[in-house]
Amino acid sequence: MKKFSEKASAIVPSATLSISAKAGELKREGKSVISFSVGEPDFKTPVFITDACKEALDRGYTKYTPVGGLPELKQAVCHKFKRDNFLDYNPENIVVSTGAKSSIFHALFSILDAGDEVIIPKPYWITYPEIVGICGGVCVFADTNPENGYKITAEQLDDLITPKTKCLILNTPNNPSGSVYSEDELRKIAEVLVSHDVFVLSDEVYERLVFDGKKHVSIASLGENIKKLTIVVNAVSKTYAMTGWRIGYLACDAALAKIITGLQSHTTSNATSFSQYGAIAALEHGEEAVEEMVTAFSKRHKLLLALLDGIDGVKYSVPDGAFYVFLDVSSYYGKKFKGKIVSNSVEFCTSLLDEGVAAVPGAPFGNDACIRLSYATSEENLYEGVSRIKKYLHKFE
Ligand SMILES: Cc1ncc(COP(=O)(O)O)c(C=O)c1O
Repeated sequence: MKKFSEKASAIVPSATLSISAKAGELKREGKSVISFSVGEPDFKTPVFITDACKEALDRGYTKYTPVGGLPELKQAVCHKFKRDNFLDYNPENIVVSTGAKSSIFHALFSILDAGDEVIIPKPYWITYPEIVGICGGVCVFADTNPENGYKITAEQLDDLITPKTKCLILNTPNNPSGSVYSEDELRKIAEVLVSHDVFVLSDEVYERLVFDGKKHVSIASLGENIKKLTIVVNAVSKTYAMTGWRIGYLACDAALAKIITGLQSHTTSNATSFSQYGAIAALEHGEEAVEEMVTAFSKRHKLLLALLDGIDGVKYSVPDGAFYVFLDVSSYYGKKFKGKIVSNSVEFCTSLLDEGVAAVPGAPFGNDACIRLSYATSEENLYEGVSRIKKYLHKFE
């Protein structure tokens, strides 16, 4: 048999999805597992959204739509950008795709040529480096530290830029660290990007999940020059508990949006027609439902941090957003658990799973000192899960 593609064989499957699958397997075998590994809200999609989708189905809206999205959805997206981010876009700036992941793929494919460098601050969402690699780009990782909330600084960015730099990937609020860039930090980053004419892909899918009075700012809103260089990516996935609907969208310069749409016309074509109707309802009438979910997440955020404060030997940089805590457990590395030395985040999470808690190792996010805990789960689960983590850690010797 001929060899499979080297490009495809080199792709590392998503670690978050595989841990969730393993936890699911153990549950099916009857084992009690508290899952801190999920990357999606545990709430149901609000009923008015599912109703809008049902109505679209009943009306027979089950055919192809324009590649880049229904005109009504593009309008709703423009309205959302104006309302939430003070950004003026027209429908020709918008492309709707099958989830933000697809938006990111199409955007990077449309700006990268072989050998172009993409700066990615660590820790990062695990999919970015894989997509950059698929597109022939070269990842340039920026080290960050917990004292600075795991954020890249403008000075650091300036030092990393070379004539080959095409793009910075910025993710605020961040998965996995929960960090949120302030307006001042973004202004300084924007200045550097504009001075070197470098694109920024700004992944804002967690924008509504910010806590303790922090606010989300889109870097694109900080002036016309940076707006021209920004590809804003967002989705209904996390904001409206619609991960399975697969609706993401992006906004960028109209000429680039045209190229992205052309590319998409040969990959997925349009995002699912009836999902797009659900997305219109969500974007136009979702505020109350979002606020309810954010209130619940905000309570859990506080609770999980308080519970973690009661554990010896672990630390975290306070997450201001998303629904993750990136917990540094490295003080346990080199110690023995059930006679075996645990030396990295993968081994830590593997033995933790045996003790009934699913968490995601930090290594695939670019930081092996940490594990990612998601609090997209009930308060009871947070209490029980942290109590299991404590018991697990007590067994180290
Ligand atoms: C930072 C980040 N961006 C994008 C996505 C993908 O979102 P979607 O489900 O809309 O493809 C995720 C999903 O986990 C994410 O964490």
